[in-house]
Amino acid sequence: MAQTVLAVIAVYLNIFVGFCFSQIYILDDAGGLGRVFDGIGGLSGGGATSRLLVNYEEPYRSHILDYLFKPNFGASLHMLKVEIGGDAQTTDGTEPSHMHYDNDENYFRGYEWWLMKEAKKRNPNITLIGLPWAFPGWVGHGKNWPYDFPDITAAYVVKWILGAKQYHDLEIQYIGIWNERSYDSKYIKLLRYTLDKNGLDRVRIIASDYLWEPIAPSLLLDPELSRAVDVIGAHYPGTTTVTEALKTNKKLWSSEDYSTFNDEVGGGCWARILNQNYVNGHMTATISWNLVASYYEELPFGRDGLMTAKEPWSGSYVVESPIWITAHTTQFAQPGWTYLDTVGHLAKGGSFVALTDGRGNLTVVIETMTHDHSVCIRPPLPPFNVTSQKAIFQLKGSFASIKELQVWRSQFNFKTKQPSFFEKLTPLKLLDGSFTLNLAEDEVYTLTTITTGRKGSHPDPPPSACFPKVYKDDFHVRTPPFSEAPNFADQTGVFEYYINLTDPGPHIFTLRQVVTQRPVTWTSDADQTISVIGDYQWQNLTVTCDVYMESAKTGGVFIAARVDKGGQSVRTAKGVFFWVFADGTYKVTNDLDIKDILDSGLEGSRFGFLRRGWTIALLKASGTEPVLKHSQKHP
Ligand SMILES: *[C@@H]1O[C@H](CO)[C@@H](O)[C@H](O)[C@H]1NC(C)=O
Ligand SMILES: *[C@@H]1O[C@H](CO)[C@@H](O)[C@H](O)[C@H]1NC(C)=O
Ligand SMILES: *[C@@H]1O[C@H](CO)[C@@H](O)[C@H](O)[C@H]1NC(C)=O
Ligand SMILES: *[C@@H]1O[C@H](CO)[C@@H](O)[C@H](O)[C@H]1NC(C)=O
Ligand SMILES: *[C@@H]1O[C@H](CO)[C@@H](O)[C@H](O)[C@H]1NC(C)=O
Repeated sequence: MAQTVLAVIAVYLNIFVGFCFSQIYILDDAGGLGRVFDGIGGLSGGGATSRLLVNYEEPYRSHILDYLFKPNFGASLHMLKVEIGGDAQTTDGTEPSHMHYDNDENYFRGYEWWLMKEAKKRNPNITLIGLPWAFPGWVGHGKNWPYDFPDITAAYVVKWILGAKQYHDLEIQYIGIWNERSYDSKYIKLLRYTLDKNGLDRVRIIASDYLWEPIAPSLLLDPELSRAVDVIGAHYPGTTTVTEALKTNKKLWSSEDYSTFNDEVGGGCWARILNQNYVNGHMTATISWNLVASYYEELPFGRDGLMTAKEPWSGSYVVESPIWITAHTTQFAQPGWTYLDTVGHLAKGGSFVALTDGRGNLTVVIETMTHDHSVCIRPPLPPFNVTSQKAIFQLKGSFASIKELQVWRSQFNFKTKQPSFFEKLTPLKLLDGSFTLNLAEDEVYTLTTITTGRKGSHPDPPPSACFPKVYKDDFHVRTPPFSEAPNFADQTGVFEYYINLTDPGPHIFTLRQVVTQRPVTWTSDADQTISVIGDYQWQNLTVTCDVYMESAKTGGVFIAARVDKGGQSVRTAKGVFFWVFADGTYKVTNDLDIKDILDSGLEGSRFGFLRRGWTIALLKASGTEPVLKHSQKHP
């Protein structure tokens, strides 16, 4: 009855007091609750997006990890999703597989294991998720397709989960199918069966990390498939879902979202979707691609992470607005909390959600992001209007007796360009369970009974600096022993430390390209393997490298300068490339595709190259012209 009266008053106010518009919103659990909240997460990989993070020196590396994972500090993420490296290019680089070959197993390659452990160290409750983008070539038996031998693919994925536990004490809780590619029902069922057979029935399957369809309708039609799948994960859903997905009664996740340049508009995108993925689409988890922008900014989708840490050589990093926008939810609601059914849109634009732990705690998150200040990279955002408004919230049910709420506010202040993020305001005293907010445009509020919120901070990092003008590496393995040399970002193939104890000379420690078969790719990897390092704008550059051609019959080696592209565009990379092939010929090209040829000849040996043995390759690129210097055969 009281509710009806309030509604009538609200209508009355709307009509007759238009100039000071106000609306009443009821927050109530009496009529039941909404869906269970599963968390907010970040995605490392897809691909190689955390590549440079591992090379930061302490304490900066730990500081960055604190801003991402430490509870009650920064983003305080609930979930970490990682790529299961497949030796292939997956957007900003390649990540190594735990099985380069069918008789090979190694659970210490790359940095995702390390990252998961660092996350877990800070938040033992963090939810861990794995997903393949690509697979080593042997999984597909040479075909660019992982489902012809579904038992092999399932065994390969399950080994990764078992290895995580055995070697790193990491419990992977969710596993996906094949990122943004076709799924195969037979494979999903077999994956479920293989997990169960290996004692991994606790590991839940997400399908299909692409669109709502066709997976949602398939689940409705195929009960066995439905038993195998626990979560429908959609990518970039634009905050909406489809009827079939709702009908499945499965958890609905935005299992990859955001992917937006992390300036203030990026923060606005993140604020809007974190709320509206639930309000419009009933999604109970949202995962940001990517976790942290730790890759060269010239690679595709530069700075599309929750924060930026792409300068291990300087120690500089930037805690961007999405970190604090995340904190508005993550610090005040945990996985296992439940959304109230009384969530929705604000009358003059924006949205509100409310969550409870079922023990009397309440967290309300409100956003009033305007259209132009909350555009995400995709999908297109239909027009809408947001204006300042007065909002009256009335707590009912088990929240009616709450007397005080903590208040946290972010104001983007696009006009003054002086934003303030995650600011703790004076707690609100409630009168009869009611509070009023004067909401401006582009704001985010959290109102909560939780008192542990904190805007964590570390001393400022060192200033930003360019990649060092002089850089050397002798490939002595560092500690902790990562498989990759600092700052090298593999773009096709995988380069790993290789210790050749039988080498009598100076080449005991080397970096070796180890992929010998084209993987089941996710994008168009180049036909040549390549790893990039440094700043592509350099002029007057000298590159020197001791190189060794392992095969006397096929292939070859190149060094290059001013390589302008990587990631999924790596095939079309331009620069200055100097190639020597196993047949003894050489070429100088402007491209990685070996089409734009500047010079070529029969005798690579003219530059000191022999078909076998170590050679020093030297490339000088001065201005825009390459100048080749004679290389020397190593003594
Ligand atoms: C982990 O979850 C348990 C149970 O929900 C909780 O008691 C504990 O405080 C959590 N730990 C952290 C570090 O959040
Ligand atoms: C809220 O959460 C805190 C800490 O988790 C707990 O101690 C308290 O009992 C909960 N309930 C209320 C009504 O604050
Ligand atoms: C937004 O407001 C403008 C100006 O009042 C109006 O012309 C437009 O139709 C509105 N757009 C929407 C989507 O409501
Ligand atoms: C290791 O060193 C030995 C001795 O120089 C050499 O014969 C062999 O080819 C090297 N192996 C690799 C993989 O470089
Ligand atoms: C590169 O060298 C040329 C000629 O020696 C010089 O004119 C130019 O300024 C140099 N560029 C840089 C960036 O040092």
